[in-house]
Amino acid sequence: MLSEGVTMVLYSIKPRVLIKLCLTGSAVLLGCLCVVMSPAQQPLKTLLVDVDNRPATSLDGNWHYLVDMTGRSLYTPTGEVNDKGYGLNEHPVLVGERKGQEYDFATAPTLRVPGDWNTQDPTLFRYEGVLWYQRDFDYQIKPDMRTFLHIGAANYRSYVWVNQKKICEHEGGFTPYDCEVTAALHSGSNFVVIAVDSTRLVDGIPGLITDWYNYGGLTRDVSLVDVPKAFVDDFDIHLKSKTMDGLAGYVHVVDAPEGTPVTIRIPEAGLDVSAKTDAGGRADFEVAAKNLTLWSPENPKLYKVWIEAAQDSLTDDIGFRDIRVEGTDILLNGKPVFLRGVNAHAEAPYRTGRVDSDKDVAAIFGFLKDLNANFVRLCHYPQDPRMERTADRDGVMIWSEIPIWQHISYDKPSVYAKADAMLHEMIRRDRDKASVILWSVANETPDNSTRTEFLKNLVVEAHKFDATRPVTAALLQPNNPGEIKILTDPLAQALDVVGMNEYVGWYSYTPDQAENIKFQVPQKPIIVSEFGAEAKAGNHGPKDQRWTEEFQLDFYRHNFVMLSKIPQIRGFAPWVLMDFRSPTRNIPLLQDGYNRKGLISEDGKKKQAFFFIQKIYKDHTYGNAD
Ligand code: GCU
Repeated sequence: MLSEGVTMVLYSIKPRVLIKLCLTGSAVLLGCLCVVMSPAQQPLKTLLVDVDNRPATSLDGNWHYLVDMTGRSLYTPTGEVNDKGYGLNEHPVLVGERKGQEYDFATAPTLRVPGDWNTQDPTLFRYEGVLWYQRDFDYQIKPDMRTFLHIGAANYRSYVWVNQKKICEHEGGFTPYDCEVTAALHSGSNFVVIAVDSTRLVDGIPGLITDWYNYGGLTRDVSLVDVPKAFVDDFDIHLKSKTMDGLAGYVHVVDAPEGTPVTIRIPEAGLDVSAKTDAGGRADFEVAAKNLTLWSPENPKLYKVWIEAAQDSLTDDIGFRDIRVEGTDILLNGKPVFLRGVNAHAEAPYRTGRVDSDKDVAAIFGFLKDLNANFVRLCHYPQDPRMERTADRDGVMIWSEIPIWQHISYDKPSVYAKADAMLHEMIRRDRDKASVILWSVANETPDNSTRTEFLKNLVVEAHKFDATRPVTAALLQPNNPGEIKILTDPLAQALDVVGMNEYVGWYSYTPDQAENIKFQVPQKPIIVSEFGAEAKAGNHGPKDQRWTEEFQLDFYRHNFVMLSKIPQIRGFAPWVLMDFRSPTRNIPLLQDGYNRKGLISEDGKKKQAFFFIQKIYKDHTYGNAD
């Protein structure tokens, strides 16, 4: 029953005002109910395929940054994300009551995005931990459009706020993600804050130890991408395997009603395909196409493809080729192919740090060309998408890998979920790249049943998600005693192509003993996914003196003889194109924090071994597909 006093008050209010009060009261009530009833609408987080061909507003450039070594501004004491942290982008109150935490991006120094922070500021060279990025940007809301924030890569965990609203987060340093920011944006001045935590985790992928430098930061392009209400977020357009007489695949449209028309046009090939979306937004198609010029290193033909669905349209440059395994052969467009390659880390030539520009990528592909390579293993993680686009144009075949490197927590389902997510992100981002011929699920992992089951499940997943490419992994060199090395790793059974790393003459034996070593390997195509020895560029001496160019050359002389005796060999990938930073390489004057197994030094000096392999690849001295 309402109290005496309240009734009195109510009577004194004019009827019109009373009605208004009731209405607002019920509106508020309703509002609260809605919030209580439906889970907070998490902004859509996805991976926009072919995003680099969409018009976008780049947010690259200088971003303010603040270091938080304690992580207190990001994580609560119990490890949750602190929503009252620097994501609010508040400013210190100089007079009056104190508000918020003590930080201010407005007066903070800046870092270049994209770019690792380690090579931009000497005080951050060895920094691993939480670093906050912030920038303002002007934006005009476009009617009937949705806006996504695209993050090319952020190493390792990252958390995004726009205009104080927590948008999304991501784990994994080498694959992109796209988060919808439509609801958080307003016309005029906006701001974005991204916390990046490069801390290595025992349950991370990679795990705590790597033989590459843990460069932290927003290491790839960041942009805003506008799409219509219903938009294409994923597609697959590939040459039908074996018959190679048609194209097949699908287009997926988000938030499109069933029956939405989709068209795929390839004017140069006279193809114009129509299909309709199903209830899940997917439109499958198949079309005959007999006169396509197939993509190959000799003729890296790309077709301009137009995809239209609902109000959305995008283009892509796609090469059509068939890659599969038959017996011990790798067949490209039905013919056996031999992979003359090398490993390449995403270490920027000359300037070092993470590769993040056309200039970096052009330098790497220049070296691949000089080496007469038709193949590159992008070790050990998905790299800047410019690498795949350049390989598509230059006709270089690619091995792409997720960073399951040696030891991770194979016994944890949560870690399997991370690996599965990274695998799907890698495949989804580069499914449309003809140059990518192999998906790799791991490198040099311990041969035990928990690991084997973990990786076998990933292989199955990769085949399910992309049935058009063989799956591989780099296995550890067999180290059984004696001169006949037998590769018995059970994971090999699940692989279409077997990668074998071997360091006979470096980590075991001496180079000249290599020619006595024989390998027994499965009846599958074998790629020697790593072999190499260290040399400090310009360091010369007798060929049995380690870290000299003469030793490295001698290593390769003997290794190619040893390896060419393996009949199943279908590819070589010497370790490694260029010297690269590694926290585990600490011999002063010889290594100085670099893995020196490069055929080229970090500042571009070609070592003797480079020219030896250049000639082998030119003359096809070793390794012929047939
Ligand atoms: C390993 C590993 C590489 C490493 C190389 C080396 O096999 O896969 O990541 O850098 O060998 O020891 O130089």
